[in-house]
Amino acid sequence: MNKRPIIIDTDPGIDDAVALGIALYSEDLDVRLITTVNGNVNLEKVTYNMLRLMKFFNKQTPVAKGAGTPLIVEPVDASDIHGETGMDGYEFEEPDNSLLLDEHAVTAMRREIIESKEPVTLVPIGPLTNIALLLRTYPEVTKNIEEIVLMGGSTSRGNSSVMAEFNIYADPEAAKIVFSSGIPLVMAGLDVGWKALVYPEDSEILRDMNKTGNMIYHLFKKYRGGSFNHGLKMYDSCAIAYLLKPDLFETAHTFVDVELTGELTKGTTVVDLKGKMNKEPNVNVCIDIDPVAFKKWFIESIRKCN
Ligand code: BDR
Ligand code: CA
Repeated sequence: MNKRPIIIDTDPGIDDAVALGIALYSEDLDVRLITTVNGNVNLEKVTYNMLRLMKFFNKQTPVAKGAGTPLIVEPVDASDIHGETGMDGYEFEEPDNSLLLDEHAVTAMRREIIESKEPVTLVPIGPLTNIALLLRTYPEVTKNIEEIVLMGGSTSRGNSSVMAEFNIYADPEAAKIVFSSGIPLVMAGLDVGWKALVYPEDSEILRDMNKTGNMIYHLFKKYRGGSFNHGLKMYDSCAIAYLLKPDLFETAHTFVDVELTGELTKGTTVVDLKGKMNKEPNVNVCIDIDPVAFKKWFIESIRKCN
């Protein structure tokens, strides 16, 4: 079977780093391009982190730098969770910048999508600024996008505000553009991220497994301060898991919109699970995950890395 062509849009980010390793070493995915976006930390830092990861993983996928600010709202970051650098806890080698394209992420995505013989799947695991800019600037890409499988949103509560998840909260207007694009969409949000847990005993298996497992162990020690002992949430790996093993998830095909004006709820994904709004379904929402099977898949996936 042909490898599935994908573009990953990311803001590494500790859980991004893990998801990227799994995708880059998967025998079923062809990562054609990686684009960076302001998110967990600023654009300069996430791009530097991405290039450090490419050197670490010893892969040659081109990297393109994207949007440095959200479309409208002021930037927020998650350095309280991922550390000042965005990937605190491991001493990476200095990157080789030759993988960094001169092109902007949006132009590079357009080129990859238009030139691809098979439809491309977009996998955003950060705020949706680059994807929204792509869809608005180059709407012709739509016909060669197979689907968008994103990490973001929630059917219930949030993690950045009471109701909003970070990737949507960080650029709600961009998320609204993406959710209303008409492109087939999969949302792997907090409902599954909160159950995709890696515990200390799993981290110890990873530490002794290979170079990637060891790196991940050290990042995990810093990730979200004290939560190492209670289980770390592998949010971004859920999007990659959906691509590779969709039967881990229970999904609901339903209408989702993004709240933009709520004084207390801006950036909330309003997931109409009961059909109250009488709108056509636009998203396959991951509402549940098999946590035991996920963990097994996760550990086996890291085993395939360098
Ligand atoms: C999302 O926010 C970021 O901090 C993580 O990398 C993930 O993409 C989880 O809400
Ligand atoms: Ca992320």
